[in-house]
Amino acid sequence: MTQSNNFPPDFTWGVATSAFQIEGGATADGKGPSIWDTFCADPANIKDHSDGTVACDHYHRYREDVGLISSLNVDAYRFSMAWARVQPTGKGAWNEAGFAFYDRLLDELAANNIKAHLTLYHWDLPQGLQDDGGWLNRETAHRFAEYAGEVARRFGDRLEAIATHNEPWCTANLGYGNAQFAPGVADAKQAIQVSHHLLLSHGLAMSAMRAANTSAKLGIVLNQWTADPATDSAADRAMAELEYARSVQWFMDPIFKGRYPELALRAHGDNAPVVHEGDFDAIRQPIDFLGCNYYFRSWCSAATPPVPPPAKLGLTDMGWEIHPQGLTELLIKLKEEYPLPPIYITENGMANPDTIVGGGVPDQARIDYVRSHLDALKAAMDLGVDVRGYFLWSLLDNFEWNSGYAKRFGIIHVDYATQKRTLKHSALWYREFISARG
Ligand code: NOJ
Repeated sequence: MTQSNNFPPDFTWGVATSAFQIEGGATADGKGPSIWDTFCADPANIKDHSDGTVACDHYHRYREDVGLISSLNVDAYRFSMAWARVQPTGKGAWNEAGFAFYDRLLDELAANNIKAHLTLYHWDLPQGLQDDGGWLNRETAHRFAEYAGEVARRFGDRLEAIATHNEPWCTANLGYGNAQFAPGVADAKQAIQVSHHLLLSHGLAMSAMRAANTSAKLGIVLNQWTADPATDSAADRAMAELEYARSVQWFMDPIFKGRYPELALRAHGDNAPVVHEGDFDAIRQPIDFLGCNYYFRSWCSAATPPVPPPAKLGLTDMGWEIHPQGLTELLIKLKEEYPLPPIYITENGMANPDTIVGGGVPDQARIDYVRSHLDALKAAMDLGVDVRGYFLWSLLDNFEWNSGYAKRFGIIHVDYATQKRTLKHSALWYREFISARG
């Protein structure tokens, strides 16, 4: 366990959120609907039948929230822009009132000396683009590049970093593979084609933002894990190898090697994506940073019934195995496989059934989770992995996608009936930990 903060003094400490999960203001000031507004309109899609109409009402409370961020002593805040707020249908005219919100937010962050790390796409595609085929339509990649260029031109000098996508694996596989996320499609072939268009859109957006001459560091955020075989059997080992190829390497290889991993391509067979000439040239271009979101490892058992993960440190409220060592192993593996730019851990944290007790929120489980992952992170850094920052997910309890509001990831508790924010013990601990830096 980390007793004191032995990270480099210039290491970036932050907290993270995303637009749809906290903003609310679903129709405020000309915002257009996104695919998540549409998805939530069918209550069967969300476990607690909730939606993002109000969420944490951050759209109206951003000042108070930046005050809270500032009170944590963090250096940086990672958040996303709702595309449909600044371009209601995803094409055509810009919505100045939407840009004005992010303008005010950036002013507030700057006034509090907090660096802004923006994500362009955290899953809330404008419904107008979905009506034209969404990410299955190659044209969406071009619309995304246009949006990225516009944001870089307007805000590029006030942003520390811009990530194109957040967890494109989820957009493709949960949005189009198993219908858990918007737009609610379950079709393996479509999911794979979508993943290609997401990668293409990343590449096109990188070029558009470079052309805008922004001073922000540009990159992408991927959800990543190691894939561990449950036993030493050939079947489990093969399953783990394929799982790693279909997830981590599927997104890393195109960006760093300009091709898809052979093993995964073979497994996809007829579902392999249509790739146009020149696509890999667009996708494979230098990025200034890689954002890595780490929550758990992938546990691979080919047996029936599958062998469950050992979960020596337990499971989170999401049912995810707590396995900090996987973060060390993942980072070392990535360093061996790819010519990596500096890495930021752009998300890490846990869901916990937190309640207010005597005015405070005792969430020791989250403190233990974060501490153990920071130890694992430091171990990887000591072995030579260049990691520049860590963003705790999340600043606030928020809308946890198809789990609704029932799963609480925040280090700040939100009472949704009153919108009252209460710092959890983990927030107080994080503040102290950051203050103890070398
Ligand atoms: C990753 C996603 O980026 C974020 O939106 C989500 O809330 C967390 N994981 C927790 O599931």
